[in-house]
Amino acid sequence: MKKDLFKHKPLTAYDAIYEAQKIAYAPLIFQAVRTMRELGVLTQLDDHKAGITSKEIAKNLSLSTYAVDTLLESGLSCGVVNIDEDELYNLSKTGFYLLHDEMTRINMDYNHYICYQGMYKLDEACKTEKPAGLSVFGEQWETLYQALPHLPEKIKNSWYAFDHFYSDAAYPIVLPIIFESKPNTLMDIGANVGKFSILAAQYNPDIRITMVDLHDQLQNAINNVTEAGLSEQIGSLAMDLLEPSQNFPDGIDVYWLSQFLSCFGKDEIISILQRIADVMGEEQHLYILETCWDRQQHEASAYSLINTSLYFTAIASGNSKMYHSDELIDCVNQAGLSVRRIHDNIGICHTLFECGKPGPTQG
Ligand SMILES: C[S@@+](CC[C@H](N)C(=O)[O-])C[C@H]1O[C@@H](n2cnc3c(N)ncnc32)[C@H](O)[C@@H]1O
Repeated sequence: MKKDLFKHKPLTAYDAIYEAQKIAYAPLIFQAVRTMRELGVLTQLDDHKAGITSKEIAKNLSLSTYAVDTLLESGLSCGVVNIDEDELYNLSKTGFYLLHDEMTRINMDYNHYICYQGMYKLDEACKTEKPAGLSVFGEQWETLYQALPHLPEKIKNSWYAFDHFYSDAAYPIVLPIIFESKPNTLMDIGANVGKFSILAAQYNPDIRITMVDLHDQLQNAINNVTEAGLSEQIGSLAMDLLEPSQNFPDGIDVYWLSQFLSCFGKDEIISILQRIADVMGEEQHLYILETCWDRQQHEASAYSLINTSLYFTAIASGNSKMYHSDELIDCVNQAGLSVRRIHDNIGICHTLFECGKPGPTQG
């Protein structure tokens, strides 16, 4: 782990109790800031750099002064809003990022639409190792991934935006690495909407790809592949990999797992990797792309990843998380595979693990 991550400075008792209140009020402040963003209060502040009164904001947005005052005061308390001697409000630098930074917007929407209500049941999820909060989307689902294709558009889109924002930035960087060994066939396991498969097929028109995912999720991917005119090159195979009896076909040169293993508990990861190992020879490659909090360059990324684990606990599966890289490497080894190379700092926050069957020299 990076030595400078989360080194907390010593605090006075006064400061510590203030910090504790920030946590105690965090869910309310989250909603206040999101509401200011949604209702246009942040934009009003951004449009009036010299400052604006709450009355003017209320008039411009057809809101009551009471509502705007309440929101602005909350924004003031958490550093999103500044006030000057003339009682004019303006946007702070933090407020600027909350309004304009794409990553922050995507994280906030995802935390609101996917996580917020279900997090109420985090304690139940911790006790049962079941995603207790998933019940806010219906009682019939065992994991978020079964529910995903069936969720209302706004909720579903916030999940896709979150998932794609991070992996989209990594794909173009990993493609040349994956194609180094000149593979003829690739299996995209956890293909989601088929974004990587489509990119890989466009990158190398000779590659033959099989997308693997849950049946309902796969329909979306198949439609996107058809729309891209790549049905000849990209096929699909519906599998539920939580079923230990679901085995992989052999004869695949590259197995590709992107942001996939974090959806499972450690025993499930080992079982999936073992089933891949069963059909791999020494010449075949397994690539795992993950976001490991211990391998981040910036504390802000580690902070976001560690706290995304709470989504996996309460909403997604009850037993998965953003793993420390040592935990993932241990799973790879326990499955009878070894990590050959590690590429850090891919895209925004990814690490690529190149894995394979240990050869005679690798033991
Ligand atoms: C976090 S997404 C990653 C998507 C994509 N690979 C990427 O890099 O953005 C995980 C994918 O794994 C699929 N998945 C989750 N549980 C699964 C299971 N039990 N069997 C097969 N696929 C599963 C989900 O449907 C989803 O498409």
